[in-house]
Amino acid sequence: IPVNPFDLVVFGGTGDLARRKILPGLFRRFCAGQMPQDAQVIGAARSEMDAEGYRQMVRDAIHEFDGRRPEECPELEGFLSRLSYVQVDAQGEGGWQELKELLRKDTVKAFYFSVAPSLFGDIAERLKNNGLAKRDARIVVEKPFGRDLASAQALNKSLAAYFHEDQIYRIDHYLGKETVQNLMAVRFGNMLFEPLWNSQYIDHIQITVAETVSVGGRGGYYDKSGAMRDMVQNHLMQLLCLIAMEPPSKFEPGAVRDEKLKVIRALEPVEPHHIVRGQYDAQGDEGSYRDHAENPRSRTESFVALKCHISNWRWAGTPIYLRTGKRLRARTSEIAVVFKETPHSIFDDDAGRHRNILTIRLQPNEGMELGVTIKEPGPGGMRLVDVPLDMSFSDALGPDAEEVPDAYERLIMDVIRGNQTLFMRGDEVEAAWAWTDPIIEGWEARNDVPKLYDPMSSGPEDSLMLMHRDGRKWREIR
Ligand code: BG6
Repeated sequence: IPVNPFDLVVFGGTGDLARRKILPGLFRRFCAGQMPQDAQVIGAARSEMDAEGYRQMVRDAIHEFDGRRPEECPELEGFLSRLSYVQVDAQGEGGWQELKELLRKDTVKAFYFSVAPSLFGDIAERLKNNGLAKRDARIVVEKPFGRDLASAQALNKSLAAYFHEDQIYRIDHYLGKETVQNLMAVRFGNMLFEPLWNSQYIDHIQITVAETVSVGGRGGYYDKSGAMRDMVQNHLMQLLCLIAMEPPSKFEPGAVRDEKLKVIRALEPVEPHHIVRGQYDAQGDEGSYRDHAENPRSRTESFVALKCHISNWRWAGTPIYLRTGKRLRARTSEIAVVFKETPHSIFDDDAGRHRNILTIRLQPNEGMELGVTIKEPGPGGMRLVDVPLDMSFSDALGPDAEEVPDAYERLIMDVIRGNQTLFMRGDEVEAAWAWTDPIIEGWEARNDVPKLYDPMSSGPEDSLMLMHRDGRKWREIR
């Protein structure tokens, strides 16, 4: 279903995110017939360029990042005709009048701030001064949303001076992933799981986001952030909220975000010995983290594993383990809900070793798997084995299922529709920083040195110990 006609202005329209994600994503929605023929996308950036030059840049970006050959994109020229460009000075007056003239009456207006957070306030102010911050305009902002509580509060304040909260769309692209939304469908669309979804039946939960990539060319940014700020404070925290929240009364922005906020606020401070920081280390061509960060003494972590607790009735006594890192053995993101053993075994063979595990795979091969215990087939008596009830979404829905949109595509369309459910509210982001700040401050105060780990491994040994000490085990990264 096409969305309403819109004018989308992409500040930072020549930047990396715009070329990799935003513009190819819009193109795919155009091909899917969801972007109306008269929609307009305006790139806005510092570089001097005319509309034709911009279209050529976007044409190249689509070929490079969409992965399709030119002859496979018959709609490309139609899409490009919807693009224009304006040279804008985010901190000066140049270009704003021209931008205003390009915007049409009676369309949805959305302004995507694909720029450094230090420019958010400047752009918001100029939108206001030029009469563009109308009550129905929307702004989209990207992470990193601050680097601690104080800076996030300052950013929220600078946006709130010109826009209401219901106009601000803070992107966490993990919320746009298909399986992440499926998590809510599975929890709240089935009777089967919710009665068991508490500490009486669940032993623990593991959330893993493992990447094989190094920090590569992003060393400058990453070295000032580390895995805690880059991944845990946002993506892993969002997954944790969705897995642990109470059922919202309705699938709508206020209700969902209220419940997520309650989870973050109920998180207990993490004990220092319940966290492991790591940094990948390799000799030779592969390079160590320190080579990539171009800082031979860097103590920034490229890996974090931690154990946390949510203090409420549902989760008291059920730990949640989070783990994320770069240069690990495989690219895999999953949430594993590990159920308790049965209270009593009636089988000689079963020394209480069997547990049900519900695994929600975010990537690759999105889907779910439920491990169940059955009798081993054959005449050998009552021997038990664990087998997976496996459901890959692409297999289950078949080849005719609609192509799953990428997270950015979905989220941009939600902005145009005016649906904030999958975006972070200001108080959520602040609460997440309030929880991570003491962890990071503790590391800084102790001058904490990350444990080194080999690329292609599962991270530092200490991360395995974090689980072993509790008589538990991480699921394999594969
Ligand atoms: C980004 C982080 O937000 O998410 C990156 O800044 C990380 O460091 C990326 O690689 C992971 O996203 P995805 O969708 O590839 O899992």
